[in-house]
Amino acid sequence: MVYDDIVIIAKKEIYAIKSINDLNILKIKYLGKKGYITTQFLLIKNLVKKERINKSIIINKQKKQIKKIIEKRKKEIELEKNDKKLLNQKIDISLPGKYIKIGSEHPIKNIISEIEKFFIKIGFEIVIGPEIEDVYHNFDALNIPKYHPIRKEQDTFWLDKNVLLRTQTSNVQIRIMKKTKPPIRILTSGKVYRNDYDSSHTPMFHQIEGLFIDKKVTFTDLKGILILFLNFFFGKKCKIRFRPSYFPFTEPSLEIDILNKNKEWIEILGAGMVHPNVLKNVKINFIKYRGFAFGLGVERLAMLRYNIHDIRSFYENDIRFLKQFKFNNFI
Ligand code: DAH
Repeated sequence: MVYDDIVIIAKKEIYAIKSINDLNILKIKYLGKKGYITTQFLLIKNLVKKERINKSIIINKQKKQIKKIIEKRKKEIELEKNDKKLLNQKIDISLPGKYIKIGSEHPIKNIISEIEKFFIKIGFEIVIGPEIEDVYHNFDALNIPKYHPIRKEQDTFWLDKNVLLRTQTSNVQIRIMKKTKPPIRILTSGKVYRNDYDSSHTPMFHQIEGLFIDKKVTFTDLKGILILFLNFFFGKKCKIRFRPSYFPFTEPSLEIDILNKNKEWIEILGAGMVHPNVLKNVKINFIKYRGFAFGLGVERLAMLRYNIHDIRSFYENDIRFLKQFKFNNFI
């Protein structure tokens, strides 16, 4: 048989085959110990050298070709088998789908949105400011003197000599006053950073800051708005008290405490009339304009509202803790 003939015949046979088992039997027929190819080698054993070499080259070629065709067919049969398997698979479309549990808003985010809504209603605009801040906006412009302890390393995360992670949202007051002409009525919220860690302090926490600058803003406005806000947030029956305090950027300054369930006064908010030095720093005429500012810790409010004792629980991502807060305000 000439070289091509046997390969063509083998190919036909190989392609007629439909299972791997049958293919293996055919493989033995051609390439096995007693198969076609081996027999061919035996037949040329007694030929003269030159002729033997020529023939053996042809037989080797045939062997290679047949082997290749068998491998190819093997792959095809395997693929066909897989396809059939898929086609025969029955899908039960009545089975319930996989249930993806829907989470809910984090309590801190939820409280921020609630407070924002209140202040938007009374004419405040929501603004944002940077968390990485320079010394000027975080301290200097707010009338915080160079020797103030909050500037020390144990309180402030310094990125370099002049850059830090903001320790308060009051930096936004400065940024807004620098670029806005009064009247100004803004509320900002966000992360602040202080080097502190225990059951009532985390190195990152949230503050909300409000600022109201106009021609006739008085201390009475400050009291009125903050009482209105606290009644809205904690209910009308909540007991609050105003206590004189000190902040470098307000004069006079005060703090507000709220009576908790254990009859203890808990400080929740700092506020005051914006210090004339601060207005001077941002080039607002402090004879013509005055205003008030306030800042509050969001985690503190959340802890009071939900009776949480360890501030760290907000950031441990424990699903059992977070699951308790189900807010339906995703829409
Ligand atoms: N920045 C203050 C703090 O982190 C809070 C504060 C107090 C903000 C009085 C104010 C303010 O705007 O008037 O403790």
